[in-house]
Amino acid sequence: MGKLQDRIAIITGAASGLGKGMAELFASEGATVVVADIEEDGGQELAQSIGGSYLHCDVTDAASVEGMIQAAVDRHGRIDILVNNAGIDGEQANTAESSLENWRRVMSINLDGVYFGMKYVLPVMVSQKGGVILNTASSVALNAMGAIPAYSASKAGVVQLSKAVAIENAMHGIRVNAICPSVVETPLLKHFIESTPDPEGARRGLAALNPMPGMVTVDAVARAALFLVSDDSAFITAVALAIDGGYTAR
Ligand SMILES: NC(=O)c1ccc[n+]([C@@H]2O[C@H](COP(=O)([O-])OP(=O)(O)OC[C@H]3O[C@@H](n4cnc5c(N)ncnc54)[C@H](O)[C@@H]3O)[C@@H](O)[C@H]2O)c1
Repeated sequence: MGKLQDRIAIITGAASGLGKGMAELFASEGATVVVADIEEDGGQELAQSIGGSYLHCDVTDAASVEGMIQAAVDRHGRIDILVNNAGIDGEQANTAESSLENWRRVMSINLDGVYFGMKYVLPVMVSQKGGVILNTASSVALNAMGAIPAYSASKAGVVQLSKAVAIENAMHGIRVNAICPSVVETPLLKHFIESTPDPEGARRGLAALNPMPGMVTVDAVARAALFLVSDDSAFITAVALAIDGGYTAR
């Protein structure tokens, strides 16, 4: 028996990176995973390879998120786990030089998307008398970093929103937590590094960021996520778990 045997888990942004790693691990632990992403080809391919299903979802669009949750319920009958993971880094610029478009785009994917996911899954989980929500924040929610103001603010918002929703819904048997990885080698991080004036220097700096050597691995994040969505963390709610090799302790 896997740790997630017969559970129905939706993961947004699951076509790539951390979401993909979680989808593969959750499926190997017995979950049926709904891959919810705007990236149709990668989403379909992953869903097929893990015996799950793909649903198109743009997390910036409330109706798209509501429709995806309803479609998952129609298809699978219930939702045990929702991971609100879709996110982007956006452009790099100090606040005064940053664009309004970047602020809105990053906020709408990283923060509105998490709010929409929880808003529409909560009635389902309340009626089931239980469920688990996990939101992907970032170490920048805990330790500020310059030149990515929208990203930093969006991720700090994810942490506090997760805690508020955890408190609101604890009596319904619903747990809500956030994970805060530091640097993980994914397409998002590649984009972040390539957006800096000195990508090679940035790569070296990020590889040396954590007191533990090297970057965080997708597998390490997926395993921490598995802990927080499984019964192993049955009495843990409203935490923001750093997965950062000690970075935020500095
Ligand atoms: N990689 C890191 O170092 C790192 C560190 C901390 C936190 N995070 C967070 O982890 C999460 C996953 O990032 P990743 O590194 O795996 O990036 P990634 O680029 O590999 O994956 C992001 C996924 O989100 C999807 N997505 C983007 N916009 C979407 C939208 N509007 N609707 C639905 N899906 C959408 C993309 O199609 C993609 O599949 C993000 O929230 C990110 O902020 C990443």
